[in-house]
Amino acid sequence: MLTENVEICCQLSGILQTTLGPCGMDKLIMDETNGLMTTNDGATLIKHLHLNHPAAILLSQVSQSQDQLVGDGTTSIVLLSAELLKQANVLVTSKNIHPSHIIQVYRKAQRFTCDLIDKLALSLTPENTKSYLQMIATTTIGSKIIGINNVHFRDMAVEASLRLENFDKNVFVFKRTGASIAHSRLLDGIMLKCRRLGVSSPTSVKNAKILLCKISNLSSSRSKIHNVKIDLDGGEADILSKIETDQLEQICDQVFSTGANVVFNCGAAIHYHAEQYLNNKGVLCMGYVDNSDCEMIATATGAKIVSRIDSDSSSRLGKAKMVKQILLADELALEISGCDNLQGWCSVLFRAPTRSMLNECEISFNDALCALSEALKSKKVIGGGGCLYMHVAEKMRQGARINGGVQQLVIESFASSLEIIPTILCSNGGFNASSIISQLSKLHSSPESSPWMGVDMIEGKVFDTVNAGILESSSILNNIIKGSVDASEMILRIDQNILLKPDKSLEQLGYM
Ligand SMILES: Nc1ncnc2c1ncn2[C@@H]1O[C@H](COP(=O)(O)OP(=O)(O)OP(=O)(O)O)[C@@H](O)[C@H]1O
Ligand SMILES: [Mg+2]
Repeated sequence: MLTENVEICCQLSGILQTTLGPCGMDKLIMDETNGLMTTNDGATLIKHLHLNHPAAILLSQVSQSQDQLVGDGTTSIVLLSAELLKQANVLVTSKNIHPSHIIQVYRKAQRFTCDLIDKLALSLTPENTKSYLQMIATTTIGSKIIGINNVHFRDMAVEASLRLENFDKNVFVFKRTGASIAHSRLLDGIMLKCRRLGVSSPTSVKNAKILLCKISNLSSSRSKIHNVKIDLDGGEADILSKIETDQLEQICDQVFSTGANVVFNCGAAIHYHAEQYLNNKGVLCMGYVDNSDCEMIATATGAKIVSRIDSDSSSRLGKAKMVKQILLADELALEISGCDNLQGWCSVLFRAPTRSMLNECEISFNDALCALSEALKSKKVIGGGGCLYMHVAEKMRQGARINGGVQQLVIESFASSLEIIPTILCSNGGFNASSIISQLSKLHSSPESSPWMGVDMIEGKVFDTVNAGILESSSILNNIIKGSVDASEMILRIDQNILLKPDKSLEQLGYM
């Protein structure tokens, strides 16, 4: 059973391995519902694979949970888990070591790895924070589609991570096709979909006071009477219409008296007469604002939704320095900028020529943001390019020689598994992996060696990754190690996969 499960996990890792690192390739996914998309993000790729083997599903869940926890390292976690399993399977089948012994030693090795990473990690200080964050962003973005505009997205991601005060992923995203990805930018506010405003409407309002309302009378003053036919002669119809107009104007006067110069009606239209009436007073109005946009406006501007106008309504207005209608790729949008309430939030406008590129931009930017937030949270960074995988592996081997016996065999297997990440980085770069890995092993086995010697993905040689500015957050690597050991333990413990089929009799009875 173990061999079957391990083979399946290795097949999954085989699909992902060509996407690892800055020279990783993309996958083109043809999805019946979403059409074509290209990606090299591990979690996204796995989400689109229709997996039906339980071991592959378990491994995919580990990658998804890495995505939810820290947002990056979703490819590495699958590759490392599969390699740990492959090595364990060799120990079980050829050396007759029981899986529970392997699990015990893997756990010990995992603690050793995480402790060494914590010990070696560099600390973020007020002096180095900005430059270290830039290096982390460059490393994360370098392996993604937005890597072609690395400096632009690096600066966007660093600024966004600093705006996210509490490090939650409070990000508003607005996406529009029709321009190159270099036109993506951070917004100093929010952006909404917008329909064409009335002819007499202002297209921009400075020092906006925003009324966010849910007033159905603004869409029509008419009471709704269904299935009743009333014959009116021309004069009577005019009188009724005048009453309606007067009522609408009364509501508009009440709205205007709150001091609002921008009005959003949530979920309902604004009657064209009311719109014109308010436009003539210099008020920008928009109806049919959907719930998610209402929440976004409320968060950004501090506006509170009102359902009727009273003396309290003025105090419920939101504020923004500017509300402006803009044209993006032949479609209108409304930009609300200068919002004081957006502290701890960031909002981003993504532009790209196609919808699939837009999605990939968002995923890649999110990876960078997660890596930066993790670094800011843990205040610890490490070198990339597989340097710590190699360093820990060598230190582990040196320690294992003292232990001897079964423990030494398992630790050596764990150490060899760690080398899979730098090995795949080398092969994806088209370099001679075995020569680079043996150079790195030699370097890291010397007591004076720097722990930061890793793979130079441009020249195909070894270099000091920290000096070269290839940095990562240490907590992401810690999570990769812990998650991979968890995944391999889960799969090593399985001695039988049981597939339960629905009860036929129930099925025949039509209950299922
Ligand atoms: N310029 C670089 N030089 C050397 N190594 C790099 C460079 N850029 C990235 N890497 C390495 O590439 C690996 C990350 O690759 P990648 O981002 O494709 O995978 P992941 O983070 O595991 O998964 P995903 O990003 O799909 O969630 C890390 O080990 C990182 O150190
Ligand atoms: Mg990554």
